[in-house]
Amino acid sequence: MTPTLEVHPAAAWADAVAAALTDRLRAWPRLRLCLPTGETPVSLYAALSASADAGLWSQATVVLLDDYVGLSADDPAAGGPRLRREIVDHVRPAVFIEIDQSGDLAAAARRHDEAARGLDLAIVGLGLNGHIGFNEPGSTADSATRVVDLHPRSREAAEGYGTEGAPERGITIGLARLLDARELWLLVTGVPKAEILRAALEGPETPDVPASYLRRHPSWRVMADDAAASLLGRADRWMTHRGDTVS
Ligand code: PGA
Repeated sequence: MTPTLEVHPAAAWADAVAAALTDRLRAWPRLRLCLPTGETPVSLYAALSASADAGLWSQATVVLLDDYVGLSADDPAAGGPRLRREIVDHVRPAVFIEIDQSGDLAAAARRHDEAARGLDLAIVGLGLNGHIGFNEPGSTADSATRVVDLHPRSREAAEGYGTEGAPERGITIGLARLLDARELWLLVTGVPKAEILRAALEGPETPDVPASYLRRHPSWRVMADDAAASLLGRADRWMTHRGDTVS
C-alpha cells in the first residue's frame, strides 16, 4: 500500500515524530507499541523523555523490537537496558516487555511473539542492509519472531556500541507480526540511509531488502529527514503527505 511519507528537516525530525507519538498516546492511552534501539531513535527518545506530560505513558505497554542474544545486562549493546536508559526509565510506561532470554531461546522467541501480538503501533528503524529489527536480508514477509544469525553489519553495529561480546545471534519480532500491527511507522534519517530507503520504497519487493515488505501494510507511515529522503526520485507518485515544514 502507498505509505504516508513525512519529510522533515533533520533539526526538526525528532520533535515532529515525538509530537505524532504524543498525539497517539493522548488519543489512546493504552497504546501497545514496539520500539527499536539503534542510533536513529536516540534524538526522538530524548525529545519524548524531555517532553512527556506526567502520566502520558502510564497506561501504555512498550515491547522491545529486537535484541542481541547472550549479552550481559551491563553490556552497552544490550537492547533491553539500552531502551530503559534512553526512554523507558524516563517516560515510565505501565509495562515494558524486554526479551527474556532465560532457558531455551526458541521458547523465548515464542514468548516474545505472544507479547507482540495485537500491537497498536510498530515503530521500526531501517538497517543499512535493508533489515527491519533483525529480520536480516533473506527474511520474507511471513517471518516469525525468532532467533536469527546476525548479518555482519548488525554485528559491526554491536561492536560500535562497545560490546565485549561480538554477538552472533539476535532475537527479533518477525515481519509477520510487525505487518499485523494496526499501524506501522518506519523511521529513517541521514544520507547513508538514502539509497536503502529508495530500494525499500521503489525497488522490487524482495527478501534481499526485507523492508520492501512493509509495503504490504495497509496503514504505514515513513517518517524521514530530508537527507534520507533525498534519493526518492518517484516520491511524487506515491507520496500522500509531506511534513508542513518542507515546501
Ligand atoms: P540505526 O539502525 O538506527 O542504528 O541506523 C537501524 C537498524 O539497523 O535497524
